[in-house]
Amino acid sequence: MAHRWTNDLTWDDVTPEAAYLKRRQIMAGIAGLGLATALPGMARASTDALEPNTWEEITTYNNYYEFGTGKDDPAENAHMLTTEGWQIEIDGLVDRPGTYAFDQVMSEMTIEERIYRFRCVEAWSMVIPWNGFELKDLLDLAGVQDSAKYVAFETAYRPDEMPGVAYPVLDWPYVEGLRLDEAMHPLTMMATGIYGRTIPNQNGAPLRLVVPWKYGFKSIKSIVRITLTDSEPPTSWNKSNGREYGFYSNVNPEVDHPRWSQATERVIGSGLFAKRIPTLMFNGYEDEVASLYEGMDLAKFY
Ligand code: MTE
Repeated sequence: MAHRWTNDLTWDDVTPEAAYLKRRQIMAGIAGLGLATALPGMARASTDALEPNTWEEITTYNNYYEFGTGKDDPAENAHMLTTEGWQIEIDGLVDRPGTYAFDQVMSEMTIEERIYRFRCVEAWSMVIPWNGFELKDLLDLAGVQDSAKYVAFETAYRPDEMPGVAYPVLDWPYVEGLRLDEAMHPLTMMATGIYGRTIPNQNGAPLRLVVPWKYGFKSIKSIVRITLTDSEPPTSWNKSNGREYGFYSNVNPEVDHPRWSQATERVIGSGLFAKRIPTLMFNGYEDEVASLYEGMDLAKFY
């Protein structure tokens, strides 16, 4: 399909040992054939100092406050969440509002594998191979009306299964939002798996948003409601601290978090001598998304 986006990173960015060598061979091959400019994504990936992230790293160093605020709490507690029979309410400005069974949604979607950089607002990053589908495809299923301008998302709120919601660290349920054009962008996906396996609960099973050019906290987990609206929806982190977390939350090395710089990131998994690399504008997806923000002051709309 024409709107589909081609992967920017490849398995070479994920598979440890063979990666560097293989990538060099690929690049040498491409250069030899004079095709380097035809594959800008690969050319960019080859110059990035990316470390692989293992299943272990991706699934044991998490933020999912419904299961506790420690990085290892979600891996320890998220097994309590029952994901069988999961349903998603899609409502607001859509032609076909209603309750969508997760299994039914999955049967309608084309599942793809995409390897994205993940950049947390806390200034660390990972490279993660997601499986899932474009959010656009789900929104098309519900039929977005012309008057819709934003998409609001809501996480499940289950005090019996989520020990963390007993604490008022955030205003529950966790909510997030995107502008409609951001939501419809081909990079924006709903992840249902990692490394070809079902996404673990701590990473947001059974359905979790991934917006690779935004800080990780926009990636709302275990979604139960999607609402199309005509006004900017509230977001959990903006409600909790609007000075530190704006609605847009685009990765931007030039706009610092009030308490720390966003110019560099610590690559998770780079061992004792944790490697820091420069953070890229829009997390490296500038070519694909900069046009969405043309004319906007990104220091104001952070
Ligand atoms: N979604 C919910 N429901 N609750 C959360 O606490 N944390 C966010 C985001 N989505 C969070 C959430 C934050 S701060 C980050 S950095 C990412 O999830 C972490 O995703 P990961 O654990 O898969 O790396």
